Amino acid sequence: MNRRIKMIVLAMFTGALLVAVVLSFIALGAMHLVPWLLLASLFLIPFLLNRSEQHHFVVWKDEYSVGVESLDDDHKKLLNLINNLQLAVHYQTGENFEKEALTDVVAYTKYHFEREEKMMQEASYADFDAHKAVHTAMIAKVNKFLLEYEKQGHDALEELAQYLKDWLVGHINGTDQEYSSLLREKGIN
Ligand SMILES: [Fe+2]
Ligand SMILES: [Fe+2]
Repeated sequence: MNRRIKMIVLAMFTGALLVAVVLSFIALGAMHLVPWLLLASLFLIPFLLNRSEQHHFVVWKDEYSVGVESLDDDHKKLLNLINNLQLAVHYQTGENFEKEALTDVVAYTKYHFEREEKMMQEASYADFDAHKAVHTAMIAKVNKFLLEYEKQGHDALEELAQYLKDWLVGHINGTDQEYSSLLREKGIN
């Protein structure tokens, strides 16, 4: 759901709950448990909202490491750039910030793919062609999303950001792990 719609629904729900609290105090009195339970649920809203917003962001985990410092640094930077993009999607950060966040994550992804591919080649990695094909397919998909973004603007950004987040985290923690032992064995970093 679009963040603006979510905020409207939340504001309506909070307003309705507030009215219910007041009416229940009037109808049932302060000695009754129900008005107090309704009041307590009103205070839970900011907490639940914060919890639901947190899942948009990604945090580096040691298990993501491929054991090659330069590539881990790239992957960490990519996660930071994804978080910037999530910020642009879910908060009203303005068009300039949004476009810059998107350009940065796509540009750094391409830069990183090139670096990673060079290192895999240097190590004579047997699955190089398959790995490179996965990178190429991802860039092709992102280019399609970018065309949609050009047409629709902010409304197309959520799906794109979600794809970038899921793909990159899945790739770092999956396909990229497969070259890890060879690169470390050959001392490529
Ligand atoms: Fe990678
Ligand atoms: Fe990769």
